[in-house]
Amino acid sequence: FKDFKVKNEPILEYLKGSKERKELEAALKNVASNCEDVPIVIGDEEIRTKEVKYQVMPHDHQHKIAKFYYATPEVVQKAIKVASEARIEWDKVPLEDRIDMWMRAADLMATKYRMALNAATMLGQSKTVVQAEIDSAAELIDFFRFNAFFAKELLKYDPISENPSVTRNSMRYRGLEGFIAAVAPFNFTAIGGNLSYTPALMGNGVLFKPSDTAVLSCFTIFKVMKEVGIPPGVVNFIPCDGPVFGDTITNSPLLAGINFTGSVPTFLRLWTQVGQKIAKYRNFPRLIGECGGKNYHFIHKSADVESVVNGTIRSAFEYCGQKCSACSRMYVPRSLWPSIKEQLLELRNKLKVGPPTEYDSFMSAVIDDKAFERIRGYIDHAKNMSGNKVIGGGQYDNRQGYFVQPTIVEVSDPRDRLMTEEIFGPILSVYVYEDGAVEEAMSLVKESTPFGLTGAVFAQDQKFLEYAAENLKMTAGNFYLNDKSTGSVVGQQPFGGGRHSGTNDKAGGPHYVLRWTSPQAIKETF
Ligand code: SER
Repeated sequence: FKDFKVKNEPILEYLKGSKERKELEAALKNVASNCEDVPIVIGDEEIRTKEVKYQVMPHDHQHKIAKFYYATPEVVQKAIKVASEARIEWDKVPLEDRIDMWMRAADLMATKYRMALNAATMLGQSKTVVQAEIDSAAELIDFFRFNAFFAKELLKYDPISENPSVTRNSMRYRGLEGFIAAVAPFNFTAIGGNLSYTPALMGNGVLFKPSDTAVLSCFTIFKVMKEVGIPPGVVNFIPCDGPVFGDTITNSPLLAGINFTGSVPTFLRLWTQVGQKIAKYRNFPRLIGECGGKNYHFIHKSADVESVVNGTIRSAFEYCGQKCSACSRMYVPRSLWPSIKEQLLELRNKLKVGPPTEYDSFMSAVIDDKAFERIRGYIDHAKNMSGNKVIGGGQYDNRQGYFVQPTIVEVSDPRDRLMTEEIFGPILSVYVYEDGAVEEAMSLVKESTPFGLTGAVFAQDQKFLEYAAENLKMTAGNFYLNDKSTGSVVGQQPFGGGRHSGTNDKAGGPHYVLRWTSPQAIKETF
């Protein structure tokens, strides 16, 4: 078995006149001018039910780019049967061979399919070219390569055999008996690929449920995997109504695991359903979830204002604040607030909100009407609750697309909804604390929300940084010192958080692949 090393996929820049820009333009045209028919796929059978749905472009919501079909409970049951059976043969395929397939898939994603993936992500999920490239190109490719690499590392571990001519000990990494349900979010195409195909890499059978608002990009991943020869039935493509899917999978005794990224209420519901039915499963299902956060930037009086401002604008507003890691609450000392405020507003006023296809757009539309209404509710609350001051933005318009302007609110009550609830939109809430009350402000970081995903501390005082790192230890699974709270890179900052942000299984790190195996220790005596 050939040894290999992995490196993060370089980001393309799409400069004017470049070959890649021309290719991307062609791919965008292709997505925009077709409404692709996306079937449910179980084994090698394509299924189209009567429940027809459409994926639209969030920045132009009358424009359809994909037609798809919701699976009924019977269709989901069929997929469970097919995946659970397919995994038996699949688990016999040597891990080395599966690793080879994943590396080939990553190469195809980096070349032949790169533009199709980016175009589907830009138009379908309203990502600017920069945001698409770091997601549906770089991060997606990285997940495939790094997880293959981590899986290979497992093969190196041999348990101790004290006297190998008499007794040989070894480990066998089996997949889980039954099936895995991968429930993917809209906000990262890469996460869809990771949730569904990492369990498959480790020998499992999977039901891949894409988000309704990311069907096209997820289906493109599915097509790549078909092309590299992953056998029919190992991963099945199942668009479905969320509760119908949840009810059906948790009712099956064959449920072996759920790999989830989405909201806290949905994960709580799935976990509760599994708990209520726990005795009926053949195995205790593995529940792995990542459910968002209320991520913070904590600013100390010794902080460098320019890095605070640049980092906060990017973290709060890139992809409209719809990254799980986005900064949505900031704590600023009174002494720095005048300069931070001035520079934040200056930079905010330069951000262009527009179609994702315009290369100078900083952000585009939010994902759908539900998101638009939810975010609008928070903006109206910011405007109407005394004590809150909207100091930048606050406008929204859904006539053609779901556009919300980047909004900054200064709040007087640090326990206001704006400071404690996940908004998942382009709103930055700021609480200004007295310089002498830094301890109280840190207590708010720790205790005012149920989340623990990402957080950042900005300070130049090294002693304070060390103190804050210890004091805020449990507030974030991904913790940044003098850098923004977004932008984790596969293999460099494995991603995930604790508390109600999830089970902290660290996507993009070596531990993650182990969660999808059921290792067997073998003792052979001669
Ligand atoms: N990698 C993303 C970030 O850290 C989340 O998946 O922003």
